[in-house]
This record gives sequence, structure tokens and C-alpha cells, in this order.
Amino acid sequence: MSDSRNSMWGGRFAEGPSAIMREINASIPFDKALWREDIAASKAHVAMLGAQGIVSPDDAHAIAQGLDQIAEEYEAGGVPENWDLEDIHMTVEARLTELIGPVAGRLHTARSRNDQVATDFRLWVRGANARALAGIAALRGALVERAGEHADTIMPGFTHLQTAQPVTLGHHLMAYYEMLNRDSARISAAQDRLDECPLGSAALAGTGFPIDRDATAQALGFGAPTRNSLDAVSDRDFALDYLMAASQCALHLSRLAEELILWASQPFGFASLPDSLSTGSSIMPQKRNPDAAELVRGHAGRIIGAATALMITMKGLPLAYSKDMQDDKPPVFEAAGLLDLSLAAMTGMIAETTFKAERMRAAAQAGHATATDLADWLVRAADIPFREAHHITGEAVRLADAKLCSLEELSLTDLQAIDPRIDERVFGALSIDASVASRASYGGTAPDQVRQRVAEAREQLARAAGSMEE
Ligand code: ARG
Repeated sequence: MSDSRNSMWGGRFAEGPSAIMREINASIPFDKALWREDIAASKAHVAMLGAQGIVSPDDAHAIAQGLDQIAEEYEAGGVPENWDLEDIHMTVEARLTELIGPVAGRLHTARSRNDQVATDFRLWVRGANARALAGIAALRGALVERAGEHADTIMPGFTHLQTAQPVTLGHHLMAYYEMLNRDSARISAAQDRLDECPLGSAALAGTGFPIDRDATAQALGFGAPTRNSLDAVSDRDFALDYLMAASQCALHLSRLAEELILWASQPFGFASLPDSLSTGSSIMPQKRNPDAAELVRGHAGRIIGAATALMITMKGLPLAYSKDMQDDKPPVFEAAGLLDLSLAAMTGMIAETTFKAERMRAAAQAGHATATDLADWLVRAADIPFREAHHITGEAVRLADAKLCSLEELSLTDLQAIDPRIDERVFGALSIDASVASRASYGGTAPDQVRQRVAEAREQLARAAGSMEE
């Protein structure tokens, strides 16, 4: 047997794999990130093999001890990268053979790398889901705190990025709370669906050995074993569920990032981002750049790209496992790193941004944001049909623009010249404070509504934190 023949599957090959084959085949450069999961799954498997009498108690013990030692080695010195060993599964097994000799070969009884990698990867994604849930909860917590502080802070609300109606900053921040609440629900649903263990599906058809799949599923913390071996080894929905939920979350983060970038710009002047999450310019001394927010906005593109990449890898693959599926890991690892970091950066920015309440108020004052309130007042107080009221209001806006003043600053004489049905009570409706306070419909921007939503959100977060600890 020539030395260049692969020790694991070299039996039927006359020569060693070519250098290109070796390189294209190797996943160890990235799947070494699965070493903890791989060892945990192998330990669950060998304990079951021992309990079922498929391997002797002594061999099962030796294998488990060897695996523990490998875990210690990797913890201390990292995972060695040898392309000849292809992937993390063969890397661990090769080391086990060095440590305990040929008995190591019994570990792979009644399993295949196909069910092994499906199990390892599920375990890894389960951790990613848990990290995302914690990261989202932290950001929701920061949003609720700032929304509570700013339930009464008035800012312009926009449509088409044109001043539309005054809203409260608390209301605006709570809009993002709602988005992240849905993200959290999506990740939780992904976590529930992931909760089945593929181990024991073997290569594709199950195994003839008397294995106990309930035992391995339970040992690895899964609710149940998967029900179809073909599906189990070729399913990557759990990774796609994560990536798609992560994409939607990243999309929300990028919208929030964009708002912070706009608000921190000088023409807006609504916010000043924390020093710790801004950078200076190497040439323009006055600059304070919102780089963290821009990168959160940018990372969303890469996360969405990762979801697209894995969908395209999976489309059209026949049952069961194909090697294309080895490409499932890099996009998930990349997206998870970016999402965790984006959530942490955004939590810091929300917690520490200084909101410029006076500037926001002045901007809300400036754009005739209470024009709808004037129209609504004409409907309510003077019983004018809304369409006509809209027209009358338009004339008032035109006059205010001509006089370079706000609607509130028009005199009663001015207003009555436009429509004699207007009386002095109208001024009660024209201030931005009155406008905001009047929008007290459920889910509206009125400070009292915002305070109620903030209180409910605090309870929701406390309940979720309680159930995470269970
Ligand atoms: N490194 C492989 C992967 O990540 C492990 C599964 C290999 N299975 C096989 N039949 N070649 O997909």
C-alpha cells in the first residue's frame, strides 16, 4: 500500500488523490469549527453502542476517554488542519486511532459521515439560534429602555422621507421593538423545527445494527429522532431556517442603522452616536463617522447573500446526500458571526446614542406636520367633509409657506379668510403636542399609548428571560 493512498477510503484506489482533488475535497479549513459538536455526537453514539452491546463496554470506555482527551487537546491547541484527512470527522477519528489504536475503528459502527455531519451541524445551528435569541433580547431591552425615556419626545414622523405627522421618539423606537419581536419568534420557530436528531440515519437508509436512536437523541438534547433517514441526511432546512430568519433580522437592523446614520448627519442633527461606536476621519478633523451603523447596514447584504447561497446550493439536489452539501457551512458560519456582531453593535448604539430632543422638536415644528390635524379639526368641529377639509388645509399651508411661518402662527383672520367656518378653537389642534396627544387610538403615537406598549414589552421580555433560564 503506497503511503499516498488515503488511509480511510484508499483501499480501492491505486494512487493517492491528486493535489487538486485533495484541495477541493477538504472541508477541514472551515468545518473544524464543528469539533465540539463532533465530539459530543461521537460520545453520545459510542455510549449508545456500548449500552446496546454493539461494542464491548471496555471498547466504548476507551473510545469515550480518547474523545475526551482529543477535546482537551483541541481546547488547548486548536484543531490541526491536514487536508488528507478531509474533514473534522476524519480528523477526530485519525487522532483517536493514534491515541487508542485500532479499537477506534469501532466508533464508526452503525453511522456514516452523512448522519454525523447532519447531527453536528444541527447542534452548531442550535447554538447559533440561542445566541441570536439572546442578542435580539438584549437589543429589544435597549429599545424598550430608550422608548420609555422618550415616550414624550416629539419628532417628525415621515412618509417618503417627507415630514408627515408628529410622532414620539418612543413610538418610533418601539416600531423596531415590534420587528425584533417577530425576528425572535422566527428564530424560536426555527429552533423548534430543528429539534430532531438525525444520528442513526447512517449513510441514507438506516442501519442493520440494533441501535437506540431515542437514547442518542436524548443524550444530545433533541426532542426526538428524525423519522426518515433519506430526509435526515439530506435536509438542511434547519440551516436555511436560521439564515432566513437571520436575513430578516439583518434587514431590520440595517433599516435601524440607516435611521441612525441619517439622524446623526448634520442636516438632521437628531442624534449623536456614542464615541465608542464612531470613528474619526484621518483627514477631516471635524468628522465623527457612524462606521458601526454603516457596517451593520452593509453586513445585512452579506447575511442575505449567505441565505441565497445556501438555497442555491440545495436547489435541485436529488436525495440523499451529495457533496455539494459540504458547502452548507461557510455561509452559515459567516452569517452567524456577522449577525451576532451586528446585534451587539446595534444594542450598544441604541443604549448610548444621545437623542437631541430639542432639534427633533424644532424639525417637527417646521414641516407643517399638523396639517392633518387642521383637516381633522375642520371635519370634527365644523362638520366639513374630509376631502373639502383637505383642500382648505392645503390653502392654509400655502399661506403659511408664503408668510414663512408655521400653521400655528397664522392669525385667526388669515385662517378665516380661507374659510369663515374656522374659529379660535382651531389653535388647540395645531400644536405638535396636541397632535401627538390626540393620536391615542390603540397602537397610536400618543405618549400614553407608548407608555402602555413599553410596559407590556417589559413584561414580555421578563417572561422570555424567565423561560430562557428554565
Ligand atoms: N465533510 C462532509 C460534509 O461536510 C462530511 C460528509 C461526507 N460524506 C460523504 N458521503 N462524502 O458534507
